[in-house]
Formats: sequence, C-alpha cells, structure tokens
Amino acid sequence: MIAASLTKRSYSSSLSSLLLFRKQTAAGFWKWRSLSCNSNHNHNHNHKDAKDIESSNGSSSIAILGSEISYDSLTKKELLTDADASSPAPHRRAMLSQHDQTTSDSDQTEPSFYSENIDRYAALNHQPVTLHSLLHMCEPPLTREGLLANAQYLCRERPVRYAKRVKLFQRLPYIVNLNPHINSVYKIYFANFEESRKFPMVQSTQDQEKFVDMLARQSRVLRDIMPDIARGFYECKSYFGTEERGQFLDQLIKMRIGLRLLTSQYIAQYHQYQATLNGEYDRETENQRFQGIIDNRLHLADMVHLCAQSVQAMCDMTYGEAPDFVIDGQTDVTFRYIPSHLHYILTELLKNAFRATLANHARDTPVFITVSQGSGRVAIRIRDAGGGIPLHIHDRIFDYSFTTVAHRSIDDEPLPGSTDGTLGASSGAQPPIAGLGFGLPMSKVYAEYFGGSLNLISMEGYGCDAFVELPSIEITKTRKIQI
Ligand SMILES: Nc1ncnc2c1ncn2[C@@H]1O[C@H](COP(=O)(O)OP(=O)(O)O)[C@@H](O)[C@H]1O
Ligand SMILES: [Mg+2]
Repeated sequence: MIAASLTKRSYSSSLSSLLLFRKQTAAGFWKWRSLSCNSNHNHNHNHKDAKDIESSNGSSSIAILGSEISYDSLTKKELLTDADASSPAPHRRAMLSQHDQTTSDSDQTEPSFYSENIDRYAALNHQPVTLHSLLHMCEPPLTREGLLANAQYLCRERPVRYAKRVKLFQRLPYIVNLNPHINSVYKIYFANFEESRKFPMVQSTQDQEKFVDMLARQSRVLRDIMPDIARGFYECKSYFGTEERGQFLDQLIKMRIGLRLLTSQYIAQYHQYQATLNGEYDRETENQRFQGIIDNRLHLADMVHLCAQSVQAMCDMTYGEAPDFVIDGQTDVTFRYIPSHLHYILTELLKNAFRATLANHARDTPVFITVSQGSGRVAIRIRDAGGGIPLHIHDRIFDYSFTTVAHRSIDDEPLPGSTDGTLGASSGAQPPIAGLGFGLPMSKVYAEYFGGSLNLISMEGYGCDAFVELPSIEITKTRKIQI
C-alpha cells in the first residue's frame, strides 16, 4: 500500500511535483511530459479556502483543466500498403505526391472559408493505419528505408487530416467560428495545413531532419489548444445543441488523438534511429521497454502516484490545501499502454475527486485509488467522499461544457499565468483552473479510444466512485483498431 500526503507542503515542493515530467533516453528517443503541468509557473496565486470552492448554487467545485499530454506518433512501411477502399484514387494520390507546389500561387496567409485547397484535400480519404501495424513500427532493426517510408506517409497524410479538421470547423454555425477562442484554434489548424501542404515530399535524411523539426513545432503549438476549445464552446453553448456539440467535439478529439499518435510515434522512431546510428541506443529501448511512445511495462500504481501528487500540488496552489490519497490493490501491476493517455484520464478524474473532497469538507477522508489487473485489462477505481453527484444532473456529467463549477474563477479573475483571464492557452501558462466541463467527456474519449471504458457511480450525499477499465494494448487484439 502506498500512502502519501502532500498537504501543507512548501510552495516550492508543490512546484517540484508539477515540473515537467520527462524520461528521456540518451538519444532523446523517449519522452513524455506531464499533461497538466508546466514548469514555467507564475507564482502569483490566490489561495482559496475550501469553503470558497462552493459555488453559488450550492454545488461544489473548481475544475482544473489540464493541457493534453503531448506525444506524437508514426507509421511503418507495411502500413502504407493500402488495399482498403478508403485510399485515395490513384490520380489524387499522384496529385498529392507533388505536394502541391502547383498551388502555391493560391497561398493564403489569412484562413478563408473559401479555400480551394482545403476543399480539395478534405475530399480525399485519409489512410488509416492499424494499431497492430503501429506497434511494429519501432521494433528493431529500424531501417533507413522504413523510416523514410513512414516520413513520406506522414508527409502525404497530414495535410489531408488537417484539411478535414478545418472543414469540420467550417461546418459549425458561423457565429461559433467567430468566437475568438475557437477562431484562434481554427487559425492554427489552417496554418498547419498550409505548412504541411507545402512541405516538399521527404526524400532524404536531411529532409527528415527538417520534417521532424516541423512536426515538433506544430505539435508544440497544438499542445495547449484544449483550454481554448473548452472555453470557446462553453461561451457558445447557447448557439447549438448538446448533441451537435458532442458530435463535433468527439470527432475533433478522436482526430486529434489519431494524428498526434501517428506523429509522435514517427518522431520517437526517428530519434531511436538516430541514436542507433550514433551508438547511443539506450538500454531501455534495447530491453524493449518502449516501442515508440508505447510503454510495454507501464507501472500502473507509479503512474497513479505521479498524477495524484501533481493534482495535490495544483490543489495546494489553488486552495492552500489538498486531500490525502491512498493507493491500494495490485500495486505491482504493469501493462502495455500509452502513458500520456493514462496520465490524462487519471489527472482529470483525480482533479474532480480532490476538488469534490475539499468542497464537501471531507479533507480528513483520503481519496482511495484501487488498481487491479484482470484478463488483458487493468482497472482503476477512484473513490472519494466528496458528496457524490446529485441525481438530477447525473445524465449530463458526460456532456461537453456541462459543469457545476461556479464561473467566478473564469470570468472575474484573471487566471494565474494569463493576463486576460483566458485559460492559459500558452505553453508558459499556469495549469489552468477551468470548470468548463471537459474533463469527463474527454477522459471518456481517451478511455474508449482503444476499447476501454469510464463510468461514475455516485452515492449522493456521501461520495463518488470513478471506474476506468483499459485494455492492455496487445498485438493480437489490435488488428482492427484503426488510427
Ligand atoms: N468526483 C466527483 N464528485 C462530485 N461531482 C463530480 C465528480 N466528478 C465529476 N463531478 C460532476 O461532473 C461535472 C463535470 O465534470 P468535468 O467534466 O470534469 O468538468 P468540470 O470538472 O470542469 O466541471 C462536475 O462539474 C461535477 O458536477
Ligand atoms: Mg473536471
């Protein structure tokens, strides 16, 4: 059993647990970062008493919306052989392989709703790869040809996927696109589309170096867009229905997960290959601990511990106190999964549990986190004494933008690390405190992406249990999952 208490720690110790988490091999091949934390914090925080957490309508909470974990992904040569019907017709593929140098005369610096290029690329079918193939990608020995084929696949695929995303935004009610937060995200996607479209087809190792630079830069810009999306959609709540909003956001987030997965896996593979060339192939890679961004022996209890400590630090900074937590069950379980996905889900659920605990004045009851492993799956239960969820809102907690959090913290007070009260959209900003109702629905999308599940059971008046089940990513079971 692991028990920990971080309450009443010094501010600097809080910060240290919020520092970017990074495990990087000698070659820089593997890295992942804390999704919800950034080391570049503004120290000017207003601590709040737990009683201040109560919203005006009596329901609890302040939510902390973490930035999404950043990793990027990949593909392999065999992934490129597409017998499936969704591949572009040959003439379209030929057109794309030129990478659009023919259309540079219609460059658009300002995103337009009438972009011929967007229409053209968005009309193409994207070429999904199977998770099964993805898993093989980083298996040694990596070859120069294999790496190049993956780069070329991504070079073709990215503009198509970005164009589809831009198109998704264009189909929203026009007034929604006028929202400054949503519009800023739209512009980023448009800019990434244009840059990706114009990037010459990768042919050499030198090209790949530039390509990886571009991928890393674009991923960095996109890393922190979720707070903007959350805020924008919260502000536009009245302009379209819950169902329509849900469909759009589910689709957007799935597309985002897919492309980040492909991109980060390729970047990991590229660094792995470079490390091998330089004779720096690191031991963990050699031991097959990691396949690109997939951790073959992800230690569940360690990850829970890391996330719970981060969330305690967030609570400390926000409220001046944090609940204790206890991790029990099968604490030595390891499984094969993508750490950044697990990190995101756990952080969101723990934020909810810790916040509810403080709001319900149950500071003396720790949050219990139980972990276990069954046949090919792991399970996590997060149990809090935060008062539970009122029956009349239970059906809505997985709706995007549904929250019971008082919005004083959003509208009236500039959030730490931002000058205008926006939700910390820049990478240098403080982990945002939101209350925009994105934590549960987004965690659900992440959990279900590889066939897992997320459920909440409430004992109104006492507390809540959140259950997460995740399949270990095994090759045999992943043949049909397409990315
Ligand atoms: N552990 C919990 N205890 C009580 N209420 C919860 C808990 N988890 C979620 N909720 C309810 O579900 C709502 C939606 O949660 P979420 O999607 O994370 O958004 P947010 O945290 O931004 O409000 C919360 O506002 C809260 O009312
Ligand atoms: Mg939340």
